[in-house]
Amino acid sequence: MAGNRTFTMIKPDAVADGNMGAILKMIEDAGFKIISMKYTRLSADLAGKFYEVHKERPFYGELVEYMSSGSIVAAILEKDNAVADFRTLIGATNPAEAAEGTIRKLYAKSIGENAVHGSDSDENAQIEGNFFFSQFERF
Ligand code: PPS
Repeated sequence: MAGNRTFTMIKPDAVADGNMGAILKMIEDAGFKIISMKYTRLSADLAGKFYEVHKERPFYGELVEYMSSGSIVAAILEKDNAVADFRTLIGATNPAEAAEGTIRKLYAKSIGENAVHGSDSDENAQIEGNFFFSQFERF
């Protein structure tokens, strides 16, 4: 059975452009409950660890540099079928391919600066949530 939690980040471009509030409203309007939330900034070292799974990919350095370039919002979200429903809400990784009305279609600039992250599996949702939040912050 699909899990009921996912993990998201509102990425530096979206925060810097003043789209944090609009994106959070879209998330809540889509029926996600915010369980834990943090406004913070990743060091290059922490961004590198978070995205370690992509370290062999050609864009890894660029991704780490970008994700540590400014403030982000990290959050654990709850809803039935959370991982899949959230991936639908945010749209394709490349905004040029994202469906109308999705967060990335509305707010992403490029495949790199693409406004939001959403976990790709229940297992990664848990790993990523645990990366940012202690057991006392994700009840
Ligand atoms: S996904 O969502 O994991 O299926 O997407 P994927 O294509 O595997 O990309 C993984 C993350 O890498 C980012 N990405 C890029 N960054 C910079 N430049 C290029 N060309 C690029 N291609 C992909 C993409 O935004 C994904 O970030 P997250 O935070 O996981 O969404």
